[in-house]
Amino acid sequence: MSSHFIYKQGQLYAESVSLLKIADQMGTPCYIYSRKALEQNWQAFSDAFGKVPHRICYAVKANANLAILNLFASKNAGFDIVSMGELERVLAAGGEAKKIIFSGVAKQSLEILRAIEVGVGCFNVESESELMRLHTLAAQQNKIVNIAIRINPNIDARTHPYIATGLSDNKFGIDMKDILSLYKKIQTSMPHCKVTGIACHIGSQLTELSPFVEALDCVLSLISELRKIGIELKHIDMGGGLGVRYHNETPPPIAAYVHQFCEKLKNTGLELIIEPGRALVANAGILLTRVEYIKKTSSKNFAIVDAGMTELLRPALYEAWHPIMPVMERSNAPEMLYDIVGPVCESADFLGNNRLLALEEGDLIAIGMVGAYGACMSSNYNARPKIAEVMVDQDTIHLISARETIQDLFARERLLPAL
Ligand code: LLP
Repeated sequence: MSSHFIYKQGQLYAESVSLLKIADQMGTPCYIYSRKALEQNWQAFSDAFGKVPHRICYAVKANANLAILNLFASKNAGFDIVSMGELERVLAAGGEAKKIIFSGVAKQSLEILRAIEVGVGCFNVESESELMRLHTLAAQQNKIVNIAIRINPNIDARTHPYIATGLSDNKFGIDMKDILSLYKKIQTSMPHCKVTGIACHIGSQLTELSPFVEALDCVLSLISELRKIGIELKHIDMGGGLGVRYHNETPPPIAAYVHQFCEKLKNTGLELIIEPGRALVANAGILLTRVEYIKKTSSKNFAIVDAGMTELLRPALYEAWHPIMPVMERSNAPEMLYDIVGPVCESADFLGNNRLLALEEGDLIAIGMVGAYGACMSSNYNARPKIAEVMVDQDTIHLISARETIQDLFARERLLPAL
């Protein structure tokens, strides 16, 4: 948890605002972000580079709210995107097209055309077929697009298998053995593609430095091979992936993570791009939820709350552990082990199991470390409207995404003609 969510006089606060006040004003459930926490994380990355030429391209998928994108854009951020939706979000939030990296294994022609039209900085190419399509479309538009090939170095990121991307049986990136010939092909026969870099992203929520170092070594060995055949690159994109502490993980500090890259690149003249998502936003967000019912069965105590897998999918999808804290520190209720579960009709609908808490019906609780991959992975399952999101800036509460209404839920749907 960031130091911007703390207890004051027995009550949990976001910066200078009590969560009780936010619940009163905004209702529950509700996502709450701290502007200070976001800025502090940004600064930690930015400071760590020192004089090494670099660009921090925020991975939009971690949290694509316009206010958050706009905050990072104001810090001169670049952005890593994977869809036209993310592209338009970045532009709407004031991000600059030339600082955008377009990643993803399945870029559609329409998306590529729009990205060419607005002039994104670089396409990270994930297959030979994609490269061919990109070249054809760029030629049709009479444009030259910047390309980095994303390599798959077959490195184990030692993370949850669903978020490991650097092994040869993952769909991501291109096999090391095919990289040189592909660069040669671009150089010799694709005048509408210009090779500017090389990219790599081996997974997310990495808690050790060594897989990153291994990946960078692979990239550097390819760069020297490329140099031998006269291909000079301008940048290395090492992707995202730095982990955070949800429970008892001990990920390296941001500075150590950045320094290890800078150390190896310092005399190469190459620009270093990174695409952090989680490490920039995870600790800046909490999910505020209210206990609707306490239900004791012969084997368990359930605290049934008004948020569930529809609002925070990570526990259901990855069995992820998030901290859970009462908003009021003291309670007359006895402490006991609870499974904190949501309203959704699935047994995977839990936010945390076996948590020692003193709870009563009506209590507010906060789920921590949900700024990344929280709101953006929410769904309307069980016809549940998307919840409000607010950003606290010192003593001010800003609504940054309004709660969906029931009308919003089916506004796009149409009945068959007169039945
Ligand atoms: N760059 C690329 C090409 C990526 O695929 C990703 C994440 C990132 C950057 C940002 O990675 P980060 O710094 O956030 O680790 N939903 C999952 C995480 C999926 C990550 C997908 N790619 C979760 O909730 O843990």
